[in-house]
Amino acid sequence: MAAVVLVGAQWGDEGKGKITDFLAEQADCIVRYQGGSNAGHTVVVGGQKFMLHLIPSGILYPDKVCVIGNGVALDLEMLVREIEGLEAQGISVANLRISSRAHILMPYHKKFDELQELGCRQLGTTKRGIGPAYTDKMERVGFRLVDLLEADFLSRLATVVSAKNRVLEQVYGEAGFDVDQIWATLAPCIERVRGHVTDTSLLVNRMVSEGKRVLFEGAQGTLLDIDHGTYPYVTSSSPTAGGACVGAGVGPTKISRVLGVVKAYTTRVGEGPFPTELADEVGEFMRQRGAEFGTTTGRPRRCGWLDAVILRYAVRVNGLTDIAITKIDVLDDFDSLKICVGYRYGDRILEEFPESLKVLQDCEPVYVEVEGWKTSLAGCREYQDLPEATRRYVETVAKLTGVPVCMIAVGPERHQTIVTKSLFGGPGTP
Ligand code: IMP
Repeated sequence: MAAVVLVGAQWGDEGKGKITDFLAEQADCIVRYQGGSNAGHTVVVGGQKFMLHLIPSGILYPDKVCVIGNGVALDLEMLVREIEGLEAQGISVANLRISSRAHILMPYHKKFDELQELGCRQLGTTKRGIGPAYTDKMERVGFRLVDLLEADFLSRLATVVSAKNRVLEQVYGEAGFDVDQIWATLAPCIERVRGHVTDTSLLVNRMVSEGKRVLFEGAQGTLLDIDHGTYPYVTSSSPTAGGACVGAGVGPTKISRVLGVVKAYTTRVGEGPFPTELADEVGEFMRQRGAEFGTTTGRPRRCGWLDAVILRYAVRVNGLTDIAITKIDVLDDFDSLKICVGYRYGDRILEEFPESLKVLQDCEPVYVEVEGWKTSLAGCREYQDLPEATRRYVETVAKLTGVPVCMIAVGPERHQTIVTKSLFGGPGTP
């Protein structure tokens, strides 16, 4: 059995797309299990850049089954646009499978997301309608893909839309939505994806039972998790490893390994406390060197030193068995590097990530300083090619988290990846 869950160990944007793309080569099936088009993965293959929001990056390999699971908030218009974009770049989506249980993100969800961001709830969301779509799912007024294919859909939609319109008109003073117009947009999208819709839980479980290699690809990151993140500055789904079970319809006994993707420094988009943030020229250097601008929104990401308190927390709530370090080459030019090992809070040192945002806001990072390597890592292909100082940095991460590092990314290209242990067996196994 080889079912690996890949999760972001920080605030998202850890470089999961690149690691997923790399692991996808060894996998038979790649599954997205939560989030929606708020996610953005950039994958560079042979100099060609692919931007993916909803479709698993495994789609870039012709022979992989790619699944959008039931836990995804599915924006059908965006999905069709993404399919067409990939096809225009010569990529076939024939192996894409979409869960009939996935909830549909409606145009009014985006409108509510925008309006709520202007009002009392300023979280810095991507305005892709994610919060309102998951709210409707939990409130049981959402629509699953399978519901759209049923005869009473339009009358059910009319009931929901009239309730939404009352809020839009009376609370926000905005124009409401027209059911026929919504349908006019949805209908061609449904036709376009109909052939890909199936019971993906059945499909994925069957593949796991047959001994196929399945990779569950988390979007966002641990600290954006609705339960375990820095609430309320979180997304509305469960990017943590447990989310893979719920969002794909597989039991926890089917998961063999959990890989945490860790960027060699820390970034965050949107609002909320960030203890190791560098609001200075060092942070600016990281932003420019690491191209830290959102794939989905283009917003500049806040940057700071690596935070091992966060990583230990990610190890705990995800049950990480392995770590992949990404973008370590962004740190090539530093004389020395800092890693946060604890938080000073008043006269106490906290070793565990606090649940109170007020406490987190007042935490001062306690750093250890390690030597930089001052050389380009771009050409390193084996662990032994890395300078001693880089290896020490990697080993410090493993020691501080208690989890082995199995992959290190030294650049955006597929081949710029050092593997010390293969999660699926095969190439790279020591
Ligand atoms: P939402 O997911 O659009 O509701 O946004 C909620 C929070 O999650 C905001 O702070 C966003 O910036 C953040 N967020 C959502 N998706 C991503 C992502 O893919 N990477 C990083 N941050 C994200």
